[in-house]
Amino acid sequence: MSSSEVAKQLEYLFKPEAVAVIGASRKPKKIGYEIVRNLLEYEYQGKIYPVNPKAEEILGLKCYKSILDVPGRVDLAVISVPAKLVPVVLKECGEKGVKNVAVISSGFGEVGNVELEKEIVDIARKYGMRLLGPNIFGLVYTPTRLNASFGPRDVLPGNIAFLSQSGALGIALMGWTILEGIGLSAVVSLGNKADIDDADLLEYFNADPNTRVILIYMEGIKDGRRFMDIAKKVSKNKPIIVIKAGRSEKGAKAVASHTGSLAGSDVIYSVAFRQSGVLRAISFEEAFDWARALSKLPPPKGENAIILTNGGGVGVLATDACEEYGVKLLDMPEDLMEAFRKYMPPFGSPKNPVDLTGQASEEAYRGAFEEALRDPRVHSVILLYCETIITDPVLLADVIIDAYHNAKEKKPVVVNFVGGEASDKAMRKLEREGIPTYPTPERAVSALAAVYRWARYSGHI
Ligand code: COA
Repeated sequence: MSSSEVAKQLEYLFKPEAVAVIGASRKPKKIGYEIVRNLLEYEYQGKIYPVNPKAEEILGLKCYKSILDVPGRVDLAVISVPAKLVPVVLKECGEKGVKNVAVISSGFGEVGNVELEKEIVDIARKYGMRLLGPNIFGLVYTPTRLNASFGPRDVLPGNIAFLSQSGALGIALMGWTILEGIGLSAVVSLGNKADIDDADLLEYFNADPNTRVILIYMEGIKDGRRFMDIAKKVSKNKPIIVIKAGRSEKGAKAVASHTGSLAGSDVIYSVAFRQSGVLRAISFEEAFDWARALSKLPPPKGENAIILTNGGGVGVLATDACEEYGVKLLDMPEDLMEAFRKYMPPFGSPKNPVDLTGQASEEAYRGAFEEALRDPRVHSVILLYCETIITDPVLLADVIIDAYHNAKEKKPVVVNFVGGEASDKAMRKLEREGIPTYPTPERAVSALAAVYRWARYSGHI
């Protein structure tokens, strides 16, 4: 099947005109009830049809005894009935002409029930339906306000698509992104990947204008070659970040007993990811650090980064991190050093790191930052700040935001503020304004390094 055919088929998974919930429950806290509630309260605009033979009405919506009784067309059916009932309701979905099904139910391949899993895939194929799952918590697509999951409701809109093979971790990370203010285009629970897998979703999100970065939590892949072939192509267009769990020998054993996947040789994965342009993150913190930068920043036009700081210590830490992660610092030309000298006292240093010193004011930062944004020899900026009594972090954030948005040429900028409550407030403001911000210099540099790795792979530099 061609990539455009895959993307077209999955269009109805994320942009359905009508959704049926089969196994919609009358009882709060049951999965089939919470999915209907999420669909309603996240304000999905399409039609919602609860299906339950024993109920007349659920959450104010008319209930149907079978999907075959639903009057209009149904693009997506979310199935939440016990595993043994799934084949029957799935056949009815096929007869109804449903295009995509998301099977929430557990009790298939993950517990050794391989035959039952094969049976539902065969039914889906027979009727030309694509099947997500089984053994999933559902899916979210923020542009259509579709929350067909039993995870947290208030997922923030953004342009990172997050795919998770793990259920509980996926749900927990949905909540964590809300807390951290990270916006997502989609959350997809992959579960047993009996039909739709990572590679299909790469094809979809590659073509999706609402997604800029694809982030995957992965334990194993069934068809490694296909994944790598597609990833190689997609990475040229959009960054793919993968957290591949089961790196250690004991971790691999844990993977086998968790999702039944074969973790495979970790070295092979690392090499294959590198060859396909996939950015491999070690932790979810690192993955989302990178995703925030990659989803917000333009690719750099060249290798030369500069560090602007008011603290020598963080400047040195960032320099070490640049060396470690592969970010090249600009060898400062004389005339540029001269230009920076205007914004620092005589005991400052205009070399790279540019140390404006602890007495730097907001306006000194403005001058130096604007200089860096203006000069074509500077391709990216690492802006560091240690909270002092001389500068108000929130005012400094305003200055940075103003200079960044008014710059003629857009360059990647990462920011690290070290300090207390005021710095935290300032960082949140910067982040909301599209400037990725980190609590340590190392995390800021690591994110910029990911932007560079992707820019090199995709041919931007
Ligand atoms: N069509 C539609 N609805 C049906 C039905 C049918 N053929 N047969 C029964 N139902 C109704 C039930 O009456 C019930 O509604 P009610 O609560 O109003 O009575 C509802 O569907 C659910 O059925 P029930 O038998 O109560 O199952 P359950 O809600 O206890 O469990 C699952 C269903 C799918 C949630 C459960 O089997 C399961 O797999 N849980 C694990 C899910 C999970 O963790 N997934 C992975 C996450 S990462």
